[in-house]
Amino acid sequence: MITSALPYANGPIHLGHIAGAYLPADIYVRHLRSMGEDVLWICGSDEHGAAITLRAKKEGTTPREIVDTYHVEMQKAFTGLDISFDHYSRTSSPKHHEVAQDFFLTLLDKGGFEVKTEEQFYDEEAKQFLADRYIQGTCPSCDHDNAYGDQCEKCGKTLSPAELVNPRSTLSGSSPVLKLTTLWYLPMGRHEDWLRKYIVDGTLDDQQHHNSKEWKAHVLGQCRSWIDGGLESRAMTRDLDWGVPVPVDGADGKVLYVWLDAPIGYITATMEWCEQNDQDWRDWWQDPEADLIHFIGKDNIVFHCIIFPILLKEHGGYNLPTNVPANEFMNLEGDKISTSRNWAVWVTEYLEDFPEGSDAMRYVLTAIMPEQKDSEFTWSDFRDKVNNELADVLGNFVNRVLVLTKKYYDGAVPAAPTDEALNATDRNLLESLSAAPAKVSDLIARHRYKEAQLEAMNVARLGNKYLTEQEPWKLQKTDPSRTATIMHLTCQVVGNCAVLLEPFLPQAASKIAAAFGVSDARWMDARTDVVSSGTVLGDLPILFAKIDDDTVAAQVAKLGQKGDTSDSSNRDLMPAKDEITFDDFTKLDLRVGTVLSCEKVPKADKLLKLTVDTGLDTRTVVSGIAEHFAPEDVVGRQVTLLINLAPRKLRGIESQGMVLMAGTDDGGLRFVTPEEGVAPGNVIS
Ligand code: MF3
Ligand code: ZN
Repeated sequence: MITSALPYANGPIHLGHIAGAYLPADIYVRHLRSMGEDVLWICGSDEHGAAITLRAKKEGTTPREIVDTYHVEMQKAFTGLDISFDHYSRTSSPKHHEVAQDFFLTLLDKGGFEVKTEEQFYDEEAKQFLADRYIQGTCPSCDHDNAYGDQCEKCGKTLSPAELVNPRSTLSGSSPVLKLTTLWYLPMGRHEDWLRKYIVDGTLDDQQHHNSKEWKAHVLGQCRSWIDGGLESRAMTRDLDWGVPVPVDGADGKVLYVWLDAPIGYITATMEWCEQNDQDWRDWWQDPEADLIHFIGKDNIVFHCIIFPILLKEHGGYNLPTNVPANEFMNLEGDKISTSRNWAVWVTEYLEDFPEGSDAMRYVLTAIMPEQKDSEFTWSDFRDKVNNELADVLGNFVNRVLVLTKKYYDGAVPAAPTDEALNATDRNLLESLSAAPAKVSDLIARHRYKEAQLEAMNVARLGNKYLTEQEPWKLQKTDPSRTATIMHLTCQVVGNCAVLLEPFLPQAASKIAAAFGVSDARWMDARTDVVSSGTVLGDLPILFAKIDDDTVAAQVAKLGQKGDTSDSSNRDLMPAKDEITFDDFTKLDLRVGTVLSCEKVPKADKLLKLTVDTGLDTRTVVSGIAEHFAPEDVVGRQVTLLINLAPRKLRGIESQGMVLMAGTDDGGLRFVTPEEGVAPGNVIS
């Protein structure tokens, strides 16, 4: 039973999503299918939670509209990259509401919740309780200004709304008030003992296949620190009108916490698939013979390793996750992927620019997969890997074998050589071929996709090298039997590539398989006689188009730009501040000034020292703009200056005022400059 994190239906899918929870699962599942294992892989859209309602609010539309749009849009992205879920469901379906409510009621019956009536933050303007992403404030641990009610994205700390300093409503920007409400809490502390056995010690009695020694170190590390830190109760209901209604009398206006309902979505999706395929869903979730593996990104670890297992165990009858091979994050061209800054490669846009580009992207993402630590995608690296590895090694090798076989044998694979005809190099090649499937399998089973792909590609490398060194084109006239041996063997290598590369490069693999007649070969057939003698080879389209420098430049230039991206409305703007009076405003003495000179402040990366003519005097202003402007960019400019700010010493220099700057969406800065015709000292009011 394989699951991939249900993506929030609040925006398009980008490469970071794919590298995190979908591509590794796809490789894993394709491999199992090729091995003939019983495997079911489900996913679906996560359609509840603040991610959805906040997006709807920003776009001035309804949550229903948002989820209906992205439920379709996201599937396009997945299909385009050959992500081969067995079933893709959604959590806003009536069926899921029913399943999630049943699950909740079972837990309630078993005394799994604590009901508490207590004060919670409330936005009087928006008339809504504020939890999770609805409330922002300063992070108590790192001072980040825009920490959310559930987490600080800067330092990663999990928070509750009460911990935020200066809390404010994300909806209206106003300061919340406290108001009584009733919540159903999951007392997680009760579960610490068995969780410790399950995850930390790996000695849980009813443990089936889970052996936490095989879990990734960073996943175990996070779990351990959660458990060691003491597990606090967590509210499993919210006062909201979008979600799965709490199925209890008198709980109007309350829904299940999205992180309660969404993982149950895995079960609903399985039920749906089983209904359509005449199977019993319990075989996948409750039969101790079945493994349960969750593919996720690292931000989802606590939910899948701690909270969901608690729910499954408390409910009873369910298997616990065998493994949760979470990936870390993938960065992009030197920066974090950011939806709001449009610093992302959107899958459907990529596929418009590279209609045949599924395999190429899969290959590169696997090669840099953030398995044990964060990694980085760059377009120049993409170009290099596609050109030097896919096109020059794999594409070139397969093509040479095909062309030579057609030329020498009218396309019919020559007969297998006798044992005596094999020399040491041939034997080495055959040995490597025999050993490859187990090697690749073992790496995939241990969730080491990067190495697995490398190992599979090594088969092509080996073949390419063998062909180049054996030079059959020089022997054909003089030694046709040796040539036939070489060509028979290289055809076997190509056939092996089709089988072993299928999990990674499904399109190329199926083209190769079709041309070399290995269409229904399975993993264990990938050996030394996967392409039968006498098979007449078919045609093969060009497998990998090369990427040129202009293409790279165009893709890099797209990053951070707005234009027609599907995401332009989702900007993380700072909410409005509290109201001030006109008197408050007139306290600010804003003037036009001209920068007379400017220099860097020694040993301070961020600071420039400006000398400014304010009309009234000439003064020094230290400004934190050195990362954005060189001194020569600044000299001679007219600027807006706050001149009555109390002086402040920065690196020993007294700064007598402040230059006003505007921030741009991509994190840049611009001067706030008056139109022409104003002189130093003119008042801004
Ligand atoms: N929607 C969540 C996210 O994108 C993942 C939900 S996974 C599930 O982070 F288990 F809750 F379904
Ligand atoms: Zn923080």
